[in-house]
Amino acid sequence: MVVLTGFMGSGKTTVGQQFAELMGWRFLDLDQEIERGEQKKIRDIFSEFGEAEFREIEHKALMKLVSSNLSHVVLAVGGGTLAQPRNEALLKLAGVRTVFLEVPVEVMEQRCCGADHTTQVRPLAVDSERFRTLYQARLPSYRRADVTIQAGGKTPEQVASEIGEALSLVHLDEM
Ligand code: S3P
Repeated sequence: MVVLTGFMGSGKTTVGQQFAELMGWRFLDLDQEIERGEQKKIRDIFSEFGEAEFREIEHKALMKLVSSNLSHVVLAVGGGTLAQPRNEALLKLAGVRTVFLEVPVEVMEQRCCGADHTTQVRPLAVDSERFRTLYQARLPSYRRADVTIQAGGKTPEQVASEIGEALSLVHLDEM
């Protein structure tokens, strides 16, 4: 299993799908797993139970996936997943490799805080200032990923092949 981390709007799902296709692996998205398990949208879990309860649910969902010992899986986690030390520890212990997709904050902000993407979709993308403050607070945890890929301004295909290369899973001269 390879885990993709990064802030909201960094392209974890799009790139993850592309990387899974490149590898011939399965793609999973932790938020989608949570929504399926709870039969509720993430925004409804936040509004009905609050963020602390969401973090519990998120932790349990990650534990379930990691303990099922899946190989050949690309898992995109939420922007806050690895900011929880218990989740980082879980992945380390299981020997799961992590990839941080680094994208300029203004690009992610554009994607998440724009007119068509309100907090209805991402409860923590409230306004520009809070978005940036949260990103800065999370950056140290993203930086502890095994690999960092500069994903800004690149196509998902490019980023996917760079991940494969960085993890020594594909060689560019074979592509
Ligand atoms: C969150 C990011 C979201 C989702 C939830 C909380 C966060 O996932 O898990 O809204 O804390 O940054 P994406 O990063 O996939 O948007």
